Amino acid sequence: MAKYQIRGNKRLSGFIPVSGAKNSALKLLAASILTKEVSVIHNVPEIIDIKKMEDILSNLGCKVTVSKNTVTIDPSSINSTSLDPDLTKKIRASIVLAGPMLSRFGTVSIAQPGGCLIGARPIDDHIDVLSQFGVTVEQKGDEYIFNNKPLAGEIIMSEMSVTATENAIMASVLSDGDTIIRVAAAEPEIADLADYLNQMGAKISGAGTHNIKIEGVKELHGTEHTVIQDRVEAATYLMMAIGTNSELKIGPIVPEHLSIVIKKLKKASANFTIIKESDKFYFQTFPNGHIESVNINTRTFPGFPTDLQSAYAALMTKAKGESRIFETIFESRFGYIEELKRMNANIEVISPHIILVKGSSKLRSAEIDAFDIRGGAALVLAALMCNGETTINHVEMIERGYEKLDIKLSAVGADIKRIN
Ligand code: EPU
Repeated sequence: MAKYQIRGNKRLSGFIPVSGAKNSALKLLAASILTKEVSVIHNVPEIIDIKKMEDILSNLGCKVTVSKNTVTIDPSSINSTSLDPDLTKKIRASIVLAGPMLSRFGTVSIAQPGGCLIGARPIDDHIDVLSQFGVTVEQKGDEYIFNNKPLAGEIIMSEMSVTATENAIMASVLSDGDTIIRVAAAEPEIADLADYLNQMGAKISGAGTHNIKIEGVKELHGTEHTVIQDRVEAATYLMMAIGTNSELKIGPIVPEHLSIVIKKLKKASANFTIIKESDKFYFQTFPNGHIESVNINTRTFPGFPTDLQSAYAALMTKAKGESRIFETIFESRFGYIEELKRMNANIEVISPHIILVKGSSKLRSAEIDAFDIRGGAALVLAALMCNGETTINHVEMIERGYEKLDIKLSAVGADIKRIN
């Protein structure tokens, strides 16, 4: 077990670079097997979940070469259609290999995927979508066996699931004919996946909206692509800057990916602006006198991202008044609350989906545990805002999603030590 020891209540200053988006890079790696040719992906974050996806691909027979943030995938020698169950159980994103494996080989076996414990996280929407493509599904123990090459047609999603939309896109790109995916999720990472596939020769339009059209093509070729910046990481550091009254530049960012987050933080009186330098955008934060409570509801994009709900709640412990936080996407994404309470946060749990953060609280240091990626990042934010030394255990959870978090924070003056 690794832990962070954080001595808080320090102002930070300087620049925090934002990494490539985890939830985009994972899908681009999966999409790379839709061709037999080599692809090169830049700006891939060096984090645990990416390493697991690379291991799954290597295990299938791909040659995966990593050089810092560039990953080269040669899928010409895939020799298995069965995903390693131990690896599959470690990351939820392993399910996005279903679409590409079916498109290329017409069969795949996948164990029930794992991931953060933030709700039931079933795969019924994936099964529903793939069935609409004419794929058959058989369950043997905790393994799903999918068969048949996907058939083009009209697909109607039963909910705006991010990974199920990505599976539908990757199931359709090589099919014979036109597909339309209705009620699709519209997250920026889905648009990045479509851009990548279009560079490989796919014909996808409308990604980033709720209706995506795909004209099937006979084959795809290798390409080179740079992953979009991680909007969740960028906004997490923005909230850390606001919570610590710091003067920080954070980026690059794509402001449109964070419109509602920017709006809510401005409404809370946070003192920051967006600057443009050499065609790139950055957050520039300034010391903040106080912040005010503002309610949020998490929604699919362009709504407030569920992945930022925990960091926002931690920030609101400092705000004057009550902030009502309504988590509409996942049914148990408040696991971090008990840890915040151990730091003297005043939070009332109204239901499994609603909490009231009552501020402002003077947070106290404590020894606490990280249970999931985003909840863990919220605890880092709380530790940075409080007096004294906080110990956060099980930080491997946080490092599944945040590249070099301790190094990036140390570089701007945070007192954070990683202990193995
Ligand atoms: N759902 C079902 N059945 C399914 C799939 C989803 O009921 O078959 C439900 C989920 O239980 C949830 C809702 O649909 O209540 C939305 O889940 P979605 O499928 O959109 O989530 P996901 O695709 O599993 C991705 C991200 C998550 C992020 C969500 C929502 C990846 C690898 N993961 O998950 O990221 O929270 O979309 O934006 O892309 C994270 O990065 O920490 C993380 C959890």
